[in-house]
Amino acid sequence: MKETVLEVRGLSKTFNDIQAVKNLNLTIYKGDVYGFIGPNGAGKTTTIRMILDLIHHDSGSVKIFGRDLHQNFRRTIAQVGALVESPAFYPYLTGYKNLSLFGDLSGGVNEDRIREVLDMMGLARRGKHKVKGYSHGMKQRLGIGLALLSRPKLLILDEPTNGLDPQGIREVRNLIRKISQEQEITIFLSSHLLSEMEMVCNRIGIMYRGTLISEGEVDRMLGGDQDQAEIKVAREGEAKDLLEQKFPGLKPTVKKSGWLEFKKARWDLGKINRELISAGFMVDSICARRKNLEDLFVDLTGESKDVY
Ligand SMILES: Nc1ncnc2c1ncn2[C@@H]1O[C@H](COP(=O)(O)OP(=O)(O)OP(=O)(O)O)[C@@H](O)[C@H]1O
Ligand SMILES: [Mg+2]
Repeated sequence: MKETVLEVRGLSKTFNDIQAVKNLNLTIYKGDVYGFIGPNGAGKTTTIRMILDLIHHDSGSVKIFGRDLHQNFRRTIAQVGALVESPAFYPYLTGYKNLSLFGDLSGGVNEDRIREVLDMMGLARRGKHKVKGYSHGMKQRLGIGLALLSRPKLLILDEPTNGLDPQGIREVRNLIRKISQEQEITIFLSSHLLSEMEMVCNRIGIMYRGTLISEGEVDRMLGGDQDQAEIKVAREGEAKDLLEQKFPGLKPTVKKSGWLEFKKARWDLGKINRELISAGFMVDSICARRKNLEDLFVDLTGESKDVY
């Protein structure tokens, strides 16, 4: 039996007339890198704030390490590291001094641990520099370092890649992998970047308009007989009409200009190619690829891919 680290049951929150989170259930197991996914306004930050008791919930319960959050709040929260939205540092102090000051607030940490954390965050050489000169990505990594300082067993990160460029996103991705591999730690992170979450998480929960619409292991959710097929073809609208006529049930859709897609299932791509070519279409490519989280999100919500 897997050990449950974080258990949310029936959690709800309404702001005035906005129901931000509706009857939410989540289960996060020890060792998980759990991706809490959803578009802007889905209710991710509100949920994280309730989990950390930064705001009150209207109903439901939160258990961390098997204990009700309120049962022994100080002891429980001492084992949780969190970064919610952008970290606030003293800009005129060094990265090292900032960690040291925040460490003092939580009972003190020794110098070796501060150096270890700076090293892990890829900031070893910048620890003696003032934070005001740090890039956005460096500040974000320092924030993750701060959350890790007192060796938590559960790390909660709200949108750790928010506002970062592709290089910064890659650095945070590698960092999260490293933290989860090298340490006995469970990670719960929120994001609206589906492809990122697919790369780092073993389990995910998808939030949509305050409701959890799907939860499970990424491989299982995207695996099985769920491949997507894509065709690169000019005059895609006419090609779509032809395929609908020749292959009832195929249901191709226009992915973008010059591209059709459909669920691969048992369709024979060779036959489809032959039909298109004999009707005079120029097929540049036809191939199957694994379903990704974006496809799953569109399947579940009916939203257009453009929301991301
Ligand atoms: N303090 C508040 N007062 C009023 N409404 C709020 C408050 N906090 C959140 N909301 C509303 O609750 C809903 C969920 O917001 P939340 O910030 O949890 O979403 P999110 O998934 O974190 O979105 P984002 O990706 O933009 O960070 C939104 O409609 C938001 O406007
Ligand atoms: Mg948010």
